[in-house]
Amino acid sequence: MIERPLRDDAPLLDAYLSALDEDRFDFIIPGHKRRAGLLDEGLGRVVDADVPLYGGLDTIKQSVGTLHEAERRAAAYYDADWCRFSTGGSTHTNQALALALGRPGDVVIVARSLHRSMLLGLVLADFRPVWLPTQLDAESGLPVGVATEDVATALRLNPRAAALILTEPGYLGTTSDVATISELAHRYDVPVIVDQAWGAHFGAHPDLPRHALAYGADALVTSTHKLLVGYSQASVVAARTERLNVDRLNRGFDATQTTSPAGAILASSDAARALLETRGVELIGRVLSLVRAARERLRTEVPGLVIPDELSFPVGRFDPTRLILQLAPIGADGVVVERHLLKQHVSLESADRDTLLPIITVTDTDESLTALLDRLVPVLNDAVGTPRRRSTALSWLVNPVQSLSPREAFFAPRERVDAAEAVGRVSAELVAPYPPGVPVLAPGEVVTRELLDGLLDAARSGVRIAYAADPTLSTIEVVA
Ligand SMILES: Cc1ncc(COP(=O)(O)O)c(C=O)c1O
Repeated sequence: MIERPLRDDAPLLDAYLSALDEDRFDFIIPGHKRRAGLLDEGLGRVVDADVPLYGGLDTIKQSVGTLHEAERRAAAYYDADWCRFSTGGSTHTNQALALALGRPGDVVIVARSLHRSMLLGLVLADFRPVWLPTQLDAESGLPVGVATEDVATALRLNPRAAALILTEPGYLGTTSDVATISELAHRYDVPVIVDQAWGAHFGAHPDLPRHALAYGADALVTSTHKLLVGYSQASVVAARTERLNVDRLNRGFDATQTTSPAGAILASSDAARALLETRGVELIGRVLSLVRAARERLRTEVPGLVIPDELSFPVGRFDPTRLILQLAPIGADGVVVERHLLKQHVSLESADRDTLLPIITVTDTDESLTALLDRLVPVLNDAVGTPRRRSTALSWLVNPVQSLSPREAFFAPRERVDAAEAVGRVSAELVAPYPPGVPVLAPGEVVTRELLDGLLDAARSGVRIAYAADPTLSTIEVVA
């Protein structure tokens, strides 16, 4: 059977490829006009496949409506009323949703495991967060979303909240009970917004959790570049409009979307949707078998290594394509393991002392997994040491005292003080171990000794601590 090319089901991909094949006489931006290779071969390799949306995938006047058609198809895929493609990552789409909710000063109920992009969305929209603590799985120490009971209490105390904002799945692939939580929120007519950056494939195979809208949420954001085949920065936002307003959604989105979107990014989101629709079950099925086989081999060849799977969590609350290696029981140091792997040109999505996270996606094969495991197994066995107790990363332990709203603190006069003196003061800055990018210090929250010591410990153990005004953390910016 001849496989139907994806471009037949993906109008933006088709437009992108057609534009690449055309002889054109462009007197528009981008200034490279796809002829930068005439000036320098290397520069040409970078920019000569760059086709813009305006004057590339569609006319400058958008007379063909290619983007609109692709977004309409994606909306249908999610059974949504509204969908937009972003070239600014889920950072942009999270903030677009924040700008589409409520009024300045409104309360929003938010999972404290939120990504920094959404926290800055709260700054932009001037919301007052009521935080939901991260629930931990007693056995693995891994974060498992928010507790339904905590959501129920927060809703009872804040029945007029502008929204309930969740991060599903969390960075390690676990989810809250989104269906029950959405139903609870809707009793108060509170819209449920889900940052599903790490769940672009959700709903594409019966063994995966469904996507957030299928569980009743009102809006979702997803990064097609993370676990699918999107170009870097590709993100999609989809919403139902029973509790959200289309004009607000468009205004929120357009406020910070570039006026010069790159065609490759948009075309890749379109293609990712078409791929899931036409071959999702087959491709995700293959990822699932690859990951299951990898777990088996690792368990056999590295005795004691702990690798959670779908049986480790309540049914439907874990992404079974996630391969999470917990190193404490074998006493290995993940940062050292990563260093050895990098020397062999193997890079992992995340490596801290206790956890390694290789990302396996629809582009992996038996060969790529074998190449990974042939290198990983010996390095892990060489790194085996004295078993440690499993610990939970600082990002999942934050349960702050909010002293000022994020926006008040973001714009407040600030001063830099020695870290010891910052304890008890209100943070003016956002500091996040990256990955996962969950703020540990956030504007408006009281700085504690535990958080500071935890950040210093994480930095010492080789974790990148991002966005701190003073990367050594010897001083902290607090509200003056
Ligand atoms: C939960 C979550 N939301 C949003 C983002 C931002 O996504 P993007 O990199 O597409 O801007 C990230 C990035 O890591 C994330 O982990």
